[in-house]
Amino acid sequence: MTYPSFVNLVEVGPRDGLQNEKQNIPTATKLELIRRLEASGLQHIEAAAFVSPKWVPQMADHSELMHEVMRSKKPGVSYPVLVPNLKGLEAALAAGVEEIAIFTAASEAFAQKNINCSIAESLERFPPVIAAAKAAGVKVRGYVSCVLGCPYQGAVAPLAVAEVAHALYDMGCYEVSLGDTIGVGTPASTLAMLEAVAKRIPLKFLAGHFHDTYGMAIANIHTALEFGISTFDSSVAGLGGCPYAAGATGNVATEDVVYLLNGLGIECGVNLDSLVETAAWISAELGRPPAARVSRAMLAKSCT
Ligand code: HMG
Ligand code: MG
Repeated sequence: MTYPSFVNLVEVGPRDGLQNEKQNIPTATKLELIRRLEASGLQHIEAAAFVSPKWVPQMADHSELMHEVMRSKKPGVSYPVLVPNLKGLEAALAAGVEEIAIFTAASEAFAQKNINCSIAESLERFPPVIAAAKAAGVKVRGYVSCVLGCPYQGAVAPLAVAEVAHALYDMGCYEVSLGDTIGVGTPASTLAMLEAVAKRIPLKFLAGHFHDTYGMAIANIHTALEFGISTFDSSVAGLGGCPYAAGATGNVATEDVVYLLNGLGIECGVNLDSLVETAAWISAELGRPPAARVSRAMLAKSCT
């Protein structure tokens, strides 16, 4: 089996990880989290979402946070933010953001619940956002949610995923992240979905975004790695959950992915010990132990 020699990790903890937290998380804590993640070697840190605060209250401090993040950005690190529309883009640009991610779904029902429009309407909304972003020198990533199942409509056809992913790629997203939003996928369904998408988009423009609700995320990532995917989204301490996907647990934990990659001899540029310290720190801030298996194991070992 030939694996990639390097895997890009997109750390989504500060955004996907925290967006569903009910307790108030101070902006200073979010900033500290981002700084610690940088220090662990992560080079892509999705930092905030410029969405409506009525829809996702936890992300309401996006402008304040991103001004600070970009004022003291680390060279070589990118800090993408979610942007659903032109209003979000304007605010993101004003905060000095250099990369955005637009997002839609392969499931009609989820698109309605999450962004209050149909898939087709979302795809019509994006070209002016992409054009304005590119005119400002801002990179654009794309997300497709519910690629392996939807909390409202159940099964999602691989061909539907391929169609939406291709639309995002075609309109100028430099990478399309395929989201198993509710973590229901298995290696078999992951493979079937990737086979369909790979017929429309070269593998190097795809990323995997797995949630770990059913404990399958690492198995799915291994399948995707074998298939040739070399970019994965993950969240420190396994933080996360989508406000519009009830019951979905966190993203796959970054520590678990780094441990997998280390075991396969694949570089990712991340220091696992430092990451585990950050996982312990943010989990203590949130008042619970890390969900990540690897952090739990390593922290238990360091106590003995
Ligand atoms: P809408 O209600 O249809 O929008 O929401 P609207 O244009 O009618 O505006 C309604 C109000 O929102 C207005 O304010 C707008 O100004 C305001 P009002 O006049 O009522 O005071 N508004 C905004 N405010 C701030 N920033 C904006 C913005 N846009 C409008 N950008 C909208 C449509 C898309 C805005 C809304 O549905 C929304 O914000 N949805 C975001 C939901 C979200 O963030 N979900 C989680 C992220 S997706 C995810 O987690 C999945 C992912 O991780 C991958 C995976 O796991 O699958 C990416
Ligand atoms: Mg997600």
